[in-house]
Amino acid sequence: MGLKLNTKYIDGFVSDAEVEAAWPEAEAAFSKLQGLNMTGWLDLPGRYDKAEFERVLEMAAEIRERADVLVCLGIGGQYLGAKAVVSALSESGADSDFPVLFAGNSLSTVELNKVLAALEGKDFYLNVNSKSGTTLETSLGFRILRQKLVERYGEEEARKRTIVSTDSVGTLHNMVVKEGWRVFIEPDDIGGRYSVFTTVGLLPIAVSGVDIREFMAGAADAWAEYRGDEGSGTSGLGGVRENAAALYAVLRNLCLRKGRTTEILASYEPSLNYVAEWWKQLFGESEGKDGKGLFPASVGYTTDLHSLGQYIQDGPRNMIETVIRVGDTGEFVIPAEKDDMDGLNYLAGKTLAWANDQALLAVAEAHSTCGDDGGCTPNMILELPEISARSIGHLLYFFEFSCALSALMLGVDPFDQPGVEAYKARVFERLGR
Ligand code: PA5
Repeated sequence: MGLKLNTKYIDGFVSDAEVEAAWPEAEAAFSKLQGLNMTGWLDLPGRYDKAEFERVLEMAAEIRERADVLVCLGIGGQYLGAKAVVSALSESGADSDFPVLFAGNSLSTVELNKVLAALEGKDFYLNVNSKSGTTLETSLGFRILRQKLVERYGEEEARKRTIVSTDSVGTLHNMVVKEGWRVFIEPDDIGGRYSVFTTVGLLPIAVSGVDIREFMAGAADAWAEYRGDEGSGTSGLGGVRENAAALYAVLRNLCLRKGRTTEILASYEPSLNYVAEWWKQLFGESEGKDGKGLFPASVGYTTDLHSLGQYIQDGPRNMIETVIRVGDTGEFVIPAEKDDMDGLNYLAGKTLAWANDQALLAVAEAHSTCGDDGGCTPNMILELPEISARSIGHLLYFFEFSCALSALMLGVDPFDQPGVEAYKARVFERLGR
């Protein structure tokens, strides 16, 4: 169920010799990573709390039995991981079958009204995720939905229908103690954007119907693969180009050093659009500091080939693309038509997935080819065998691991986000706090 990094469409831009020369930096980054704080996520797939995991499964079963919908409140790292997994596995027709609504991730009245309207006549639970408990969007959303819950069910039942993940101290934890809500304590050594394999991600994912054992198994596969030869007594990343996650970190750093300023994550499966949103947050908050870092952007192909494709092919040569290529997306055979009115009979008998994949390869070639009629946006292709709980678990862990290495190679702290304080102070000033 592994994941491969195909470098064919970037090899002309970054040479083997450059990768070899930079590999020791990745090794040094990995050694450094293992001595840092906030790395509780690193070996989590191999050592997670099995009793807590069972509690998550029990609570998910209770919610699925007693409610029609779960409303999950949180923002940034406290919702994007769950949203990414639930979207990937529900929209792809895989194993997600229970509605999870996300709220508390904007200040939009329209969005809030949509959630309130969706709850009319439905039984619901609230799951609020916030480490600090002071995040404006989440706290406000929680206040409004909490009142709705009490109105609907009364104090006692509302208490049973409120489940919190938060730090062991802080505003939300104080509220938990006062109100008696059920709580999962978020680990002190795992930040929001690395939290998808904690209860923050696991509870809503399990409620949605996704098999979280498989999801964790995917992360464990990835951890076993990328920690290199740790099992044999050393802690290296393995040989140059053997470790896809480290290679990805090396290649994107080399591209940055060669003047690339933007990395675009592209996918040909709309169900992966929220994986891209999660990826942007992970890399954006981990790397964008001290005036450094690739700007993480995303596109959804083939749709965006008819919009941003023009810019990527022909615009400034400051971009690289990382493309997620899914192996098995199901078989839909293109039908023949008697009169061939639309001239598409040359595709009859082929699958739509085959056509999608030919488009992917053609675009990678076109975007990465320098020349009079070609663009020059180097492409890396991440080959995912299928969209399943296990493969998505592997993919998200792959990105967490490579992001931490990449940020350390860049010379920044992967786990802080000092830049968000500046805007927060101004917002609170304007709001009159
Ligand atoms: O990844 C992060 O650290 C952030 O995106 C946080 O998850 C986000 O700001 C929410 O913070 P909190 O958990 O304090 O509500």
